[in-house]
Amino acid sequence: MNILLTGGSGFIGSNFVRLVLRERPDYRVTNLDCLTYSGNPENLADIEDDDRYTFVHGNICDLELCTKLMHDCDAVVHMAAESHVDRSIIDARPFVESNVLGTQTLLDALRRADPGGTKRFVHVSTDEVFGDLPLDKPEELFSETTPYAPSSPYSASKAGSDMVARAYAHTFGMPVMITNCSNNHGPYQFPEKVIPLFVTNLIEGKKVPLYGDGKNVRDWLHVEDHCEAVLTVLEKGTPGEQYCIGGNNERSNLELTHAILELMGKGEDMIEPVTDRLGHDRRYAIDATKIKRDLGWEPTRSAWPQALEHTVKWYVDHPRWWQNVKSGAYREYYAKQYGTR
Ligand SMILES: NC(=O)c1ccc[n+]([C@@H]2O[C@H](COP(=O)([O-])OP(=O)(O)OC[C@H]3O[C@@H](n4cnc5c(N)ncnc54)[C@H](O)[C@@H]3O)[C@@H](O)[C@H]2O)c1
Repeated sequence: MNILLTGGSGFIGSNFVRLVLRERPDYRVTNLDCLTYSGNPENLADIEDDDRYTFVHGNICDLELCTKLMHDCDAVVHMAAESHVDRSIIDARPFVESNVLGTQTLLDALRRADPGGTKRFVHVSTDEVFGDLPLDKPEELFSETTPYAPSSPYSASKAGSDMVARAYAHTFGMPVMITNCSNNHGPYQFPEKVIPLFVTNLIEGKKVPLYGDGKNVRDWLHVEDHCEAVLTVLEKGTPGEQYCIGGNNERSNLELTHAILELMGKGEDMIEPVTDRLGHDRRYAIDATKIKRDLGWEPTRSAWPQALEHTVKWYVDHPRWWQNVKSGAYREYYAKQYGTR
């Protein structure tokens, strides 16, 4: 199979490329990525010479380019997006452009190239489209039937993209599937997200900024489990269906922070309480019964605290990667090669 992957130079995308090439020797992956601040070709430095992998520098909002790439592929996995909630609070515009218009452009490109609707399209989304859950009702979980109620500009733009994907599946009979996943952790995550930010801050002797009272709860999944789930949906999912993906692993931000401090041999004095994020969702939690029951997927790499330990160790062992990212040095290098947005 020849997969067109969007956003393959980011965190989850680069882990997906690596997983597919490792587990499906007869598959090829073409990665379409415009290299925003979070897209870093160095995330794939170890496989860039693999002749099953091709990088295309371009934007998912470019209809002509996307149409050409749709002709050349057998299936699409769409991960490209603006992905950071805090940035969406500062400026929502790129979120609507890439996440909503980009998704619509890709789907139009697919319709043009494949009017018969034979090529499967997996739209990778987030559990944040469902809004949040109360802290005092642990029995409540998000599932495929939960109504959409996004609360940040990021989640609103992802909800918009899900609606576009759903409408194209319904209206044009396109074999589109949507996945909604909880928080990922693992190698190559841009260090603005909580785990790599905290680990790299502690290595640098800096404090870790903890939002509000730290009681907000997230469900944590190892990125390879997410990638395996997306591959499962691509291969076995039913067109038009939606699948929730989770790790069954809820932790408060305070609990997560304590676990990281302990792994790094640091004390509570390294916590710096900061003003809470605007509109901060309280709790996310997933009921992943459907994907387990219908497709046989369940997480195998997310057991806590071993999975967290594995992720923390990766950042400790790869200082050159995150130092380059934090200093922006990688951007100067790749800007010369490709230009950047
Ligand atoms: N990180 C998580 O915990 C998480 C959880 C659930 C779902 N998701 C979803 O998974 C996907 C990937 O998330 P991530 O954490 O890897 O994000 P990321 O920010 O690390 O990577 C996003 C990638 O998309 C590329 N991109 C952005 N806009 C583009 C455009 N217009 N054209 C081409 N490329 C573009 C970027 O250059 C980057 O390489 C996103 O759709 C996100 O909403 C993420």
